[in-house]
Amino acid sequence: MFAVTAARIDAENPLAGMELGERPDPAPKDGWVTVTIRAAALNHHDVWTLRGVGISAERLPIVLGCDAAGTDPDGNEVIVHSVIGDPDAGGGDETLDPRRSLLSERYDGTFAERVSVPRRNLVPKPAALSFEEAACLPTAYLTAYKMLFEKSGVQPGATVLVQGAGGGVATALILLGRAAGYRIWATSRSEAKRDRAVELGADQAFATGARLPERVDAVMETVGQATWAHSVRSVRPGGRIVICGATSGDAPPAELTRVFFTQLTVTGSTMGTRDQLGRLARFCEQTGVRPVVDRVLPLAEARDGFAAMIAGDLFGKLVFVP
Ligand SMILES: NC(=O)c1ccc[n+]([C@@H]2O[C@H](COP(=O)([O-])OP(=O)(O)OC[C@H]3O[C@@H](n4cnc5c(N)ncnc54)[C@H](OP(=O)(O)O)[C@@H]3O)[C@@H](O)[C@H]2O)c1
Repeated sequence: MFAVTAARIDAENPLAGMELGERPDPAPKDGWVTVTIRAAALNHHDVWTLRGVGISAERLPIVLGCDAAGTDPDGNEVIVHSVIGDPDAGGGDETLDPRRSLLSERYDGTFAERVSVPRRNLVPKPAALSFEEAACLPTAYLTAYKMLFEKSGVQPGATVLVQGAGGGVATALILLGRAAGYRIWATSRSEAKRDRAVELGADQAFATGARLPERVDAVMETVGQATWAHSVRSVRPGGRIVICGATSGDAPPAELTRVFFTQLTVTGSTMGTRDQLGRLARFCEQTGVRPVVDRVLPLAEARDGFAAMIAGDLFGKLVFVP
């Protein structure tokens, strides 16, 4: 089958280690099913893999891609949950299983014609969502869902700041947060992306690092180093920062004095459970929320898609079709 593979790690030039071409079909395993992929979304995780973050060279070559929607062997339309883990080993939450992995970390991922996953990792795809839209849910939208609805600790009506408005997780936070009744403020380096964020439903959008009209109840962080000091300064005393990523680097000053003096809570968040993915799909169906898809490309043009993400030239998700 045709697939996009991480063949080598290159921290400086991630595209150099990517190969497009034939790979063996997934081998059948007990309790696993093979899904025919109709759409697969790109995540920053795929760029990190090529840079060697979160994976070691002995795991290569491995098919890239965390997210997919497609059909199971009975022809049912499904969304593929990317977390391969044992809920029993994580106290009922597979994201807390110390041995968990995401597709493309230990097992071949979704940038291919077919992918094999444990049967429990299939979630029904609502008919109202296209394959391209459904393929956006398993990583970026699931992460945003858990950040807002499990980790933020704030109720609808609260003010939530989303850093880096154009990103896949960030656009998901704006859409889901708005649909649930939060007042969403967003930041972006780009004026055009700030305008788009407001069109999506953000109440206001600000230049990255700008002083806000008032402190917010919670901040959703995916950017890391470039926005951390602003996040710490922008949250009200006793408020919370939820962080799931550090795209711009993970060595900012920790701002410890401000963290303890204003009694902030800093909460890490990673992916979500299979059951949360099922509820997220239903949330989209019920509210009319549809993932923001910047563009759809043939899988054979994956190189262009990765380059756009590395350049920051995206608003929302980029989806590949095999
Ligand atoms: N823990 C998890 O389970 C999990 C799940 C999903 C994602 N993540 C992580 O979360 C991060 C975001 O993922 P994504 O897929 O949404 O990535 P993405 O689509 O590439 O978005 C990154 C966004 O960050 C902002 N940004 C990047 N560099 C910046 C800088 N120097 N200064 C200010 N803003 C900057 C940009 O926003 P503007 O261009 O609008 O300024 C960009 O749109 C990644 O690091 C990813 O690995 C983690």
